[in-house]
Amino acid sequence: MKIAITNLKGGVGKTTITQNLAVCLTHMGYRVCVVDTDTNQNTLAWFGVRSEELPNLNVVGSTDPKALIKTVTNLHNDYDIILIDGTPSLGEMTTRVILASDLLIIPILPSANDFRAMEQFFERYNLAQETASKEIPAYFLLNQYAENVRLHAEIKELLEQFGLPILETTIRNRVSYVASAVEGTGVYEGSDNKAKLEMVELTNEILKLAAEAGLVTQ
Ligand SMILES: Nc1ncnc2c1ncn2[C@@H]1O[C@H](COP(=O)(O)OP(=O)(O)O)[C@@H](O)[C@H]1O
Ligand SMILES: [Mg+2]
Repeated sequence: MKIAITNLKGGVGKTTITQNLAVCLTHMGYRVCVVDTDTNQNTLAWFGVRSEELPNLNVVGSTDPKALIKTVTNLHNDYDIILIDGTPSLGEMTTRVILASDLLIIPILPSANDFRAMEQFFERYNLAQETASKEIPAYFLLNQYAENVRLHAEIKELLEQFGLPILETTIRNRVSYVASAVEGTGVYEGSDNKAKLEMVELTNEILKLAAEAGLVTQ
């Protein structure tokens, strides 16, 4: 199964979510490979500092849009789950990332600014859907979201207008996400139990949706 964490906006948590899903899925026993498509190569750098004593996952860089689908297809033979860490590039890469995937997770911050890039993303998404012979389900994920903040709840309502489902799990703003990114770990491997819990919840929700879509057996 191939899951892309994508959005045309930078700084929305694509890399954070990718790394943390990779760690959770690895601890659950899946063979996981992350494909880092961003030229900043943040996930490759994260992998570079990851201790060899931790459960083993893999990260490869792939910043050439023309090579991406082949790279992902080849890796798919050796891994249960490929996670694609998306790029904010408006160009061809975003279409390729979508086409290389079975399922899309679109992290979004509860801020009005983040809506502006959404229309452009949907152009890419619709184009990719036309090219692909299959439907590629996509879900919004609210990152740095707090249920008790009124503005956040209002933004969530606005998001519903786009017609894509929103994942039930939401991710809070937590220092442990920043710390684990520096340490080459995921929050699952740290001591912030609330972060751990929400990441397990997110991973399970995505696995359940994938199973319902016939992508993976639970
Ligand atoms: N839930 C969160 N809580 C705290 N910090 C976060 C959270 N999600 C992302 N960040 C921080 O926000 C910044 C941007 O996140 P990143 O995952 O790199 O976004 P993107 O890959 O979309 O550009 C990073 O410094 C990251 O550590
Ligand atoms: Mg990133």
